[in-house]
Amino acid sequence: CGAVAARSRLLGFESVPAQLDPAFDSVQVPPGYRARVFFSWGDRVETDAPQWKADASDDWQAQLLQAGDNHDGMHFFPFTDAPTEHGLLAINHEYVNPPLHPDGMSLVDGRRPLAEVRKEQAAHGVSIIEVRKDASGQWQRVHPSRYNRRISTLTPMAVGGPLAGHELLRTAADPSGTRIIGTLNNCSSGFTPWGTYLTCEENWHNYFLNRDAEDLAARTAHARYGVAGGERSKLYGWESADERFDATPDASLPHGGYVNEPNRFGWVVEIDPFDPQAQPVKRTAFGRYCRECAVLSLGEDGRMAFYSGDDSRGEYIYKFVPSGRYVPGADQQNRQLLDDGTLYVARFDADGSGRWLALVHGQNGLTAEHGFPSQAEVLLNARAAADRLGATPMDRPEWVAVHPRTREVYVTLTNNDQRGDKAAVDKANPRPQNLHGQILRWREAGGDPAATRFEWEIFLLAGERKGARGADGKPVPAHLTGTIEGDAFSSPDGLAFDADGRLWIQTDYGDDEPAMQVMGTNQLLCADPGTREVRRFLVGPRGCEITGITWSPDYRAMWINVQHPELSFPASDGQSRPRSSTVLITRDDGGVIGT
Ligand code: FEO
Ligand code: CA
Ligand code: CA
Ligand code: CA
Repeated sequence: CGAVAARSRLLGFESVPAQLDPAFDSVQVPPGYRARVFFSWGDRVETDAPQWKADASDDWQAQLLQAGDNHDGMHFFPFTDAPTEHGLLAINHEYVNPPLHPDGMSLVDGRRPLAEVRKEQAAHGVSIIEVRKDASGQWQRVHPSRYNRRISTLTPMAVGGPLAGHELLRTAADPSGTRIIGTLNNCSSGFTPWGTYLTCEENWHNYFLNRDAEDLAARTAHARYGVAGGERSKLYGWESADERFDATPDASLPHGGYVNEPNRFGWVVEIDPFDPQAQPVKRTAFGRYCRECAVLSLGEDGRMAFYSGDDSRGEYIYKFVPSGRYVPGADQQNRQLLDDGTLYVARFDADGSGRWLALVHGQNGLTAEHGFPSQAEVLLNARAAADRLGATPMDRPEWVAVHPRTREVYVTLTNNDQRGDKAAVDKANPRPQNLHGQILRWREAGGDPAATRFEWEIFLLAGERKGARGADGKPVPAHLTGTIEGDAFSSPDGLAFDADGRLWIQTDYGDDEPAMQVMGTNQLLCADPGTREVRRFLVGPRGCEITGITWSPDYRAMWINVQHPELSFPASDGQSRPRSSTVLITRDDGGVIGT
């Protein structure tokens, strides 16, 4: 790693070099550590799941019982009687890749075959898997287990909060507006103090189509989120096989057919990993947008905030503050807390101060005459409400992490290749053509998660070292250089603190893009929030994103996710189908990771 003024006492491992080999198809960790593939797409989850077929010929019913694709956010939930030996891992499956099928995704007479669409739907969602240490102290998956469970785009879910039963959630198939089928694009996540998992619905708009151009333009709940017009949805064309993804209004059907189906996505979904019978619940008080994560900050007095990024260019950072307080042990009462509270959006002012602006019906112009006749519409159209309040458009906010002692909040702004074009540069988003991204941090007034004022600063600008020269010998342009003390990286995305206050940073960029050649493959790094030193801990296989991070409660086991590897990982034999995978990292001497 590079010259660093103050050597960090928090970072106790040797830096891993950037991986520039175009054929690299493995995971590399520092000396004294080992990385082992733990849970891959297609692995058995539910008791009756068949063994995964290497030619991807498993049908959708098999996929419904096996691990989904594109592992992303995750969290370890310990069992209280043996927390460092036994737990449940909840793992998001964000989307799907063509190798899900033997010969990729097909079109027959302009339509997607229903069997393929069902398999794709079954490969989205969440896996819950039981994990425990064996007699030799190694972490293993437990199968069969009563806790092992797949949740997908086909799983029935309940609705909580102000939108439950609302007419804007009713469809031809669900006239009650209270029973939603499935979850989509589960990117990052969060958890509650009462031991539930919060999976977040990110780019749900890509799954829907509204062919009625006039209706689409007038319907904020579609247009402001980028629901497709024309003849095909943006991602997989599911609407050609499954009518509920065609959100074109149909006056001949009750509730306009499926015009409200997109309104049923973009929420936080609460899942109780310890109760396999419990139905997931969409918590509408959190507001609706392309939500990356929902990360808890818990005050000493039981007040909470859940922070979220809306990961699109020029979108906002939000927090949801429940009205009630968390009371340890009062679980029946705690489980009602996420249905009532205040949604805020952030404004970052040039002087380093910031404001949380409340998205409350009747205040700040959020009234019927401006298209917000009730709090339900404010939440459903959170982006439009935030526009009206003058929130700060950010460079694609992704994960949030809260320091375990100071409660200082960090957020990754992954990149924005249209900054300076679609939105002006500003103090918080200072670079035009921002290909490498930045990490911001702030302190809530009084350290109170519910505060409405904060002080912020840029923690680092990612990118190449100042003074770096390109392959042509010329200085690297200013918009591609950063302020990193230590190992360079681009496009921070995953972000989490361990108990000692090490900040772990994961990256997501196209490692084949010209500006990324010097960065190598995607990676996991660790930063010291005090000295700002950054050191590279792990590099992944070619073509993947490194994401999802969680630990056993003693921080001696770490799990990360390798999403959409491109070559043949995890077999790494040059011919097998690549599979998104969870990887377990431990130290040879059994010590705490990173020390
Ligand atoms: Fe799914 Fe914003 O990453
Ligand atoms: Ca992400
Ligand atoms: Ca990303
Ligand atoms: Ca991703």
